Amino acid sequence: MSRGSVTVIGLGPGDPRLLTVAASEALAQADDLIGYFPYVARVPERPGLVRHATDNRVEVDRARHALELAASGRRVAVVSGGDPGVFAMAAAVFEAVEQGELEWRDLDIVVEPGITAMLAAAARLGAPLGGDFCALSLSDNLKPWDVITARLEAVFRADFVVALYNPISSARPWQLGRALGLAAEFRAGTVPVIFARAVSRPDEAICVLTLDAAREATADMATIVIIGASGTRMIERASGQPFVYTPRSVPR
Ligand SMILES: C[S@@+](CC[C@H](N)C(=O)[O-])C[C@H]1O[C@@H](n2cnc3c(N)ncnc32)[C@H](O)[C@@H]1O
Repeated sequence: MSRGSVTVIGLGPGDPRLLTVAASEALAQADDLIGYFPYVARVPERPGLVRHATDNRVEVDRARHALELAASGRRVAVVSGGDPGVFAMAAAVFEAVEQGELEWRDLDIVVEPGITAMLAAAARLGAPLGGDFCALSLSDNLKPWDVITARLEAVFRADFVVALYNPISSARPWQLGRALGLAAEFRAGTVPVIFARAVSRPDEAICVLTLDAAREATADMATIVIIGASGTRMIERASGQPFVYTPRSVPR
């Protein structure tokens, strides 16, 4: 029996040109493709590649399935949008490894990084993540809202730029409004807030507002929201979208 493997692959934000060469090579070597169905759909079909597209809410089941297939000798690609280590499948795979069969620990398991949404979004605007920053998922599906609120408060107090993943969905309509309200308690109303939707896809839409004007209705589940820190600057341009950057230096 050939030695099976699991490669957890980041597909990047959407544009196939933003897929790494290493990720593309790993996809070409796979026998099985596993992931949430929109991500599986991004990978072209080819003879010999068995596709297993599933719903988003079954991450650890999907990871176990990948490990079972690998243990039987298959070369398995598990795909995520963006980077697989950022609020995505890589953590689910290692959770399944830790809780699963002992033999899974000795499988070849490799993570192929991808360009995560906050980096793709930041690049569109200039350099909003040029200083210290952090990333938070606003989803309270996997952690309590109290924990999210405490982390947001700490981030705002410490004056980090913050990238908010999973800002809103039909099942979670109010959380982003609360996060923006909390930001306003700590930050000036003039701080830039970036709403970057479907970055690098045909339906991309980017909007920069001040914190005073930012409303949750500007976001949907394909949007990443970046809230600037006190030092984040907006450079207005007659031609349209401003540049946004955060200087690396902080006054002493
Ligand atoms: C479950 S997280 C997955 C993040 C992904 N692993 C990554 O590294 O970008 C899904 C969230 O990522 C953000 N996202 C993913 N792709 C995006 C894109 N192309 N443009 C803007 N935001 C995106 C949105 O906030 C979305 O709700």
